[in-house]
Amino acid sequence: MSRLDSFIRRLEAQRAVLDWAAAAIEGREGLVIEIGLGNGRTYDHLRELLPDREIYVFERDPHPNPVSMPPAPFLVVGDIAETLPAFRERHDAAAILIHADVTTGVPERDRVVFASLPADVVALAQVGAIVVSGWPLDHDRLEPLPRPGKVPEGRYFIYRCAA
Ligand SMILES: C[S@@+](CC[C@H](N)C(=O)[O-])C[C@H]1O[C@@H](n2cnc3c(N)ncnc32)[C@H](O)[C@@H]1O
Repeated sequence: MSRLDSFIRRLEAQRAVLDWAAAAIEGREGLVIEIGLGNGRTYDHLRELLPDREIYVFERDPHPNPVSMPPAPFLVVGDIAETLPAFRERHDAAAILIHADVTTGVPERDRVVFASLPADVVALAQVGAIVVSGWPLDHDRLEPLPRPGKVPEGRYFIYRCAA
């Protein structure tokens, strides 16, 4: 598969998963957390899907397309190894949806660099919260859910946070 095809499939999977996740949290209270602002594409999609939600975005180096810059109070700048635990101190387990889209681009490196991410995500998630991620998050409280629609296996990972 060409890199172009792979990129397109990744974006299609992201959109399908975020659309599904937004519907899955309908009627349930809680914050939305976006980990990895990047260009701001998925943040922009989430805020369009969920205009009435508070969406907090975590990013160490925020340089999105200017139209997708989160409002200052909702942008948490810094390394997630520090900012996620600090956010937990202030907000407790308040998230109903968490989207993790941080990567070094090398899966084997991600597992080392982001080793604390699964536990940090679980600490922020309400029981029953939906967690979606571009790579697998291994944690006892993250129960895998089936992928929606035609999202291919291994493209995106979906979990419910158990008690
Ligand atoms: C794949 S991009 C996110 C793409 C974004 N979701 C979009 O749709 O445009 C990953 C982002 O994670 C950020 N990132 C990587 N490691 C990080 C860390 N340790 N702490 C905070 N942000 C980090 C990078 O700076 C980058 O902007």
